[in-house]
Amino acid sequence: MSPKKPEPPFGKTRPCTRPPVAAAQPYLRLCPACHRTYPAGDAVCEQDGCRLHRVCFAPLGPQPGQVLGDFELVSRLSLGVSSEVWEGVRRADGYPVILKLLRFFTHDMDAVADLCSRFFREAAAVSAIGHPHIVSLLGHGLDTGTGQAYLVFERLAGRTLQEALRAWRMPRDLATGLDVARQIASGMEQVHRLGIIHRDLKPSNVFLEDTAAGPHVKILDFGLAKIRNTPHLATLTRDMMYGTPAYLAPEQARGEEPGEAADVYGLGVMLFEMFTGKLPFFGTPMQMIAAHLQKPPPDPRRHKPGLPRELSDLILRCLEKSGSRRYPDMASLGAALAAVPTPPPAPIPDPDPDQP
Ligand SMILES: Nc1ncnc2c1ncn2[C@@H]1O[C@H](COP(=O)(O)OP(=O)(O)OP(=O)(O)O)[C@@H](O)[C@H]1O
Ligand SMILES: [Mg+2]
Repeated sequence: MSPKKPEPPFGKTRPCTRPPVAAAQPYLRLCPACHRTYPAGDAVCEQDGCRLHRVCFAPLGPQPGQVLGDFELVSRLSLGVSSEVWEGVRRADGYPVILKLLRFFTHDMDAVADLCSRFFREAAAVSAIGHPHIVSLLGHGLDTGTGQAYLVFERLAGRTLQEALRAWRMPRDLATGLDVARQIASGMEQVHRLGIIHRDLKPSNVFLEDTAAGPHVKILDFGLAKIRNTPHLATLTRDMMYGTPAYLAPEQARGEEPGEAADVYGLGVMLFEMFTGKLPFFGTPMQMIAAHLQKPPPDPRRHKPGLPRELSDLILRCLEKSGSRRYPDMASLGAALAAVPTPPPAPIPDPDPDQP
């Protein structure tokens, strides 16, 4: 028998509380003002003369306790493709925040530049909105020690619509569902008014705060948002298809420039899911994309026969293949939602006297 390999002395080492300075890591330069990206050697933005900041391609793994500017990381909430989301606190007063950290899986310069600009575009998009149904951005920055780029948001108490949908039984809770839908449409009305297209509306990007008056909607995650009239940023979104297959508008699936109608479609898929408990199309990502392009959506009343006809017609109108046949804007979709009749809550039946 071969001698037992000695265990690595993990238990004996003390965790490093300070992240190593990433001197040898590959990096690019970013203009803090216009968010153009430059190769490593450049020092000044050719557009506005600002001194460029360094952003690392692969910042070393963030750790609990790590300090980024005025904030400290506490625990990681989620790990996405291009960013990770952490709970954190403001060091001065312990105020709870959410920190979104940029991460890269590639050394492809074009892809990195694209990700970086998208990340800071989220900052620009969210800070411009300022609406009760949109998450508030408290700040953004670049840590000079590690080159870590981060966004800071208010920390919300509650759960995402995705988590809520697992717990809800629709359409028994029709009134709550309609209220949530109207709040999403109201937030999106303001987003569109500012010329921003979200492009990734889905239940995990809608947060429901717990309030005494019921769930209060905050729309999250403008990482894929498209901002009109920003030619430099618009060119960075090249010919790629962005979004999530289950919620993708046909024009997004074709790689066309998505407009407000794409968000109306995304909200339509969410409404279908909220009120029937099912997605209109499911299967592999490729099957879902093909269905969004070609297949008529099923009538929501086939899944939930008790659904008001007005609501099922409204959902189907959002899911029209052609954007011009959908609601022309979020305001008219919000008005249609407000007009859906909600039956009074069903009376609780008296206990059956024959039952023990
Ligand atoms: N301000 C916030 N308050 C509380 N929780 C939040 C907040 N922002 C994000 N979260 C939580 O973190 C999750 C991921 O956030 P977000 O959608 O912004 O990032 P993401 O990396 O793009 O995730 P994904 O791509 O999976 O949608 C959310 O679904 C939510 O559970
Ligand atoms: Mg998200």
